[in-house]
Order: sequence, then structure tokens, then C-alpha cells
Amino acid sequence: MSDVPDRVGVIGGGRMGAGIAQAFLLAGARVEVVEAGDEAAEAARGRVAEGLEESARRGKLTGDVADVLARLSLVDSPAQLAGGTGLVVEAVPEWADLKVAVLTAAEAVLGPDAVLATNTSSLSITELAAALQRPARFLGMHFFNPVPASKLVEVVVAPETAEDVVTATRGWVRALGKTDVVVRDSPGFASSRLGVLLGLEAIRMLEEGVADAEAIDAAMELGYRHPMGPLRSTDLVGLDVRLAIAEHLAGTLGERFSPPQLLRDKVAAGELGRKTGRGFHDYAQD
Ligand SMILES: NC(=O)c1ccc[n+]([C@@H]2O[C@H](COP(=O)([O-])OP(=O)(O)OC[C@H]3O[C@@H](n4cnc5c(N)ncnc54)[C@H](O)[C@@H]3O)[C@@H](O)[C@H]2O)c1
Repeated sequence: MSDVPDRVGVIGGGRMGAGIAQAFLLAGARVEVVEAGDEAAEAARGRVAEGLEESARRGKLTGDVADVLARLSLVDSPAQLAGGTGLVVEAVPEWADLKVAVLTAAEAVLGPDAVLATNTSSLSITELAAALQRPARFLGMHFFNPVPASKLVEVVVAPETAEDVVTATRGWVRALGKTDVVVRDSPGFASSRLGVLLGLEAIRMLEEGVADAEAIDAAMELGYRHPMGPLRSTDLVGLDVRLAIAEHLAGTLGERFSPPQLLRDKVAAGELGRKTGRGFHDYAQD
């Protein structure tokens, strides 16, 4: 089994970035997380620390959380990433302009052999690559939420991605204890395309009064053995995140991905899922 790079950068230490940082820390890397501003940096550090505590409780971390956390540092901008960084994973919000800005800033300080990856759920790897000087060193590493518990990483390959970059990335995914699937760059890759469509149809069924949220989720959990129903899964991902992905896929793949009004209304009302305590289900007591 190959090792992960000694030094890994993660841009954006939110829900996904903190989980990705945690995974690489547990695999032995030194990890630098980029967050703009002290408050955001402290919040990101807190998320990683909390995740590591949880790993320790589950027996997935031998030794001290403090020792692992000592390999984590926070920096203000991609320009401050250490020169010897072997891999940078970008996990800022799903806005193409923001992603291009942080990816080009990171590329400018990385060595020629470093790999640059994006955790985008839906944006085109090929289009993001077009803004880079070394598109051959760039690909998608699509982690799943929650990162520590999930077993899958989609390795998303654009036409210009070099073969050795794909091979190295697949090895790193396995070194994290996860399984890689290689997917050609296309809207929504394999997982979001299917998962989002199922979620949108479930929301349309709720709108039409076909069944309530519990029943729709139970139908897929018990009837099709999905570990989580499509509405619960939308709550976990975040309704705002799902809405943005659906809008993007509607523009690229067609009307069948058009977001239902109920999804728009809930996002407008601030009901974003688990993170706000309410989405299609209620989490107030969690
Ligand atoms: N939430 C999911 O289930 C999920 C799953 C797979 C992939 N993704 C993708 O991962 C990415 C991040 O999603 P998330 O759910 O973690 O979002 P999030 O909002 O929880 O985290 C984004 C983080 O980026 C930080 N950030 C914003 N601008 C920045 C900048 N200029 N420099 C550094 N940091 C900055 C924010 O402070 C925040 O902490 C998105 O592209 C999303 O599509 C999300």
C-alpha cells in the first residue's frame, strides 16, 4: 500500500475540508488547512479536533489526539502553503470563480510534481483545469460526507490529467483506507448525478403529497437497502449545497435536474438540513 504525501494542503476547512484534513492526519501526513481569517481558522481547527476526538472514541486513533493535532497547521491563504507540499485538495464552497482563484494561487507556490485536486461535487474538472498552468497535475478527488465514515472517493479524470497523477491519487485514497472509483469528467460524475436526481424526485413526491418524508425515506432504506433515504441524505449534504448542484446540473444535463420549488423555499427559509437543525426532517433535539 502506498503512503500519503508527507505534506498535504487542504483549502477550506469546512464540513468537507475538516474531514479531509482529519483523514490525512490519521494517515500520518502533516496537514496545512487554508482558511481566511482567525475566526474561520479557529472554527476549522475545532472541527478537525472534534473529528479526531470522535476517531479516538471509535478506536480509530491509537495514541494521543494532541500528538496528531500537532501535525495540523492553519494558514491564511493558498500562497502560504509550504513549498514541499505533495498534494493540495481544494474544498471551498461550490463557486467556480472562487475555486479558480484558490487553485491558481496554490499552483503558483507548488512544485512541478505536486498534485492539485478539487473536491467539487459538480463543477467541470476540465473547465477548472483550463485556468491552470499545469492541467496535467490536476484532477477531482470527490470525497463523501461525512468523510471519516465514508468509504468512497471518486477520482475524476479530465482529458489532460496525467496517468501517473491518477495512479498516485488512487494509491493515496487506498492509504486513507477508502476505495477509489475512477470516473471520466462529466457533469455530476457518477455519484452526484444519480444521488441528486433521486433526491430531487423525492422532494417532488413530497410536494405532490405522495407520502411524508419518513415514508419516502423508509421506502428506500427498507425497500432498496439504501443506508439513508434521499431526503435524509439531502439534509446531511445541506439543502443549499444540493440546490446549487441541481441548478448546475439543470444547466448542463437538462431540465430533469431543475430544483423543485419546495427546495428553493426551504433554502430561502434557512432550513438547510442538519446543520441548521431542520430540513426535510427535524434535528432540533440532536
Ligand atoms: N457537503 C457535502 O456533502 C459535500 C460532499 C462532497 C463534496 N462537497 C463539495 O465540497 C466543497 C466544500 O463543501 P462543504 O460542504 O465543506 O462547504 P462548507 O461551507 O462547510 O466549507 C467551505 C469552507 O471554505 C471556507 N472558505 C471560503 N472561502 C475561502 C477562501 N477564499 N479560502 C479558504 N477557505 C475559504 C469557508 O470558511 C468554509 O469553512 C464544495 O465544493 C462542495 O460541493 C460537499
